[in-house]
Amino acid sequence: MKKKIAILISGRGSNMKAIVENVQNGILKDLCDVIVVFSNKINAPGLEIAKSLGISTKVIESKGRKRSTYNALLYEYLDSLDPDYIILAGYMKIISPDVVQRFRNRIINIHPADTALHQGLHGYEWAFENKLESTKITVHFIDEGLDTGQVIAKREVDLKGAKTLEEVEKRGLAVEHEFYSECLKKILTTEHTENKMDDFCSFNRPG
Ligand code: GRF
Repeated sequence: MKKKIAILISGRGSNMKAIVENVQNGILKDLCDVIVVFSNKINAPGLEIAKSLGISTKVIESKGRKRSTYNALLYEYLDSLDPDYIILAGYMKIISPDVVQRFRNRIINIHPADTALHQGLHGYEWAFENKLESTKITVHFIDEGLDTGQVIAKREVDLKGAKTLEEVEKRGLAVEHEFYSECLKKILTTEHTENKMDDFCSFNRPG
């Protein structure tokens, strides 16, 4: 049975695009359907990309609302949508604990750094400013903390010779766009119920 996935974005949506393309014609074909691309920002460029790919979109604006009001609206929406997985792709809000609990081990994020070394925003700036010769992209489950959820996999990005932040980001995103779908394939095809989570999260290069 194909799984239903909801993708949450806030901006550009390049990871979302790569995933949708893999669902339509690549390594995620026949494994899942993207039932919605959701944004908390009405002007997120990714919304137009999703529409052009034939995907339904939904917006609940976070701006101008109290955080608790926004969170309650989002909970209600996701609860009734009932996706099998929630895929965060440049979604810039913290997932509230009630959503984490409702979709435990079914919310996945991509982080542009090694979550053990750098949490929060600006992962590529951090790698660039520290002149790292390589950095890692992390795909992980979401828990109640900030970038503290169980790591599904990490993949290295070679930064040797990258002289600008733009170059660092370009190399990183090229890895992200392939790696995220590979991880999703692993998730969609491998058992990871609560008692199997430790085994599941121990792999490094999903294939
Ligand atoms: C990516 O670098 C991702 O790792 C981070 O936010 C960025 C989103 O980019 N979480 P995009 O919107 O997918 O282009």
